[in-house]
Amino acid sequence: MLDNALRLQYLHALGIDVWIPKANNVQPPCVMANETPILAPALATETATGDWQALETAVAGCTRCGLCSTRNQTVFGTGDRQADWLFIGEGPGQHEDEQGKPFVGNAGQLLTEMIRAIGLSRDAVFITNMVKCRPPGNRDPHSDEIASCHPYLQQQINLIQPKIIVALGRVAAQKLLKTEASLAQLRGKAHDFSGIPLVVVYHPAYLLRSLLEKRKAWQDLQFAMGLCSRL
Ligand code: URA
Repeated sequence: MLDNALRLQYLHALGIDVWIPKANNVQPPCVMANETPILAPALATETATGDWQALETAVAGCTRCGLCSTRNQTVFGTGDRQADWLFIGEGPGQHEDEQGKPFVGNAGQLLTEMIRAIGLSRDAVFITNMVKCRPPGNRDPHSDEIASCHPYLQQQINLIQPKIIVALGRVAAQKLLKTEASLAQLRGKAHDFSGIPLVVVYHPAYLLRSLLEKRKAWQDLQFAMGLCSRL
């Protein structure tokens, strides 16, 4: 767990002043007590490893949509494959396409701070995108590209079985929830994604351009923490 002073330091770096509660209300990761694995542990690990490998190979060689012709490499996702928290962005940008990892540019640094602000590290969550290849010129991914890539995301979700999904920004939120509602309408609510609670948070790239919204992003993260603590 992150110590409170350090968390306040991260929040300060985010440009957020925080009301300090009487009791430390940072919630631990969502660990469910008395969980019984469905498969015996050894079998579960073996199966999951095999599935992950097959999935990574399939993504690395994917030609399901036109994005394969302009990418340098696919960006599968990084983090804990058994994470409670799954963060989903829209698609890799230039730096991600170069490095093969999600959220490594400026927006990625802010996402790292946001994750630290909720008392976690990037290694303790899983981060991926709606599409695994960079849309040229950093345009939004098209609906057909998102649809082509969705089976990969769905399989990642099935394997991770997160306790909570955080949709980063409008594109991820609207596509995951199959809605045209605005981000302002979608934030601050607990949505459902196939039985998994989903919350919507401003995209860190947007927050870099709209500093005034950082406070709202912190409210959204607090909402997600509260939700997670009740699961
Ligand atoms: N923006 C995203 O949505 N995803 C990334 O990986 C990087 C920037």
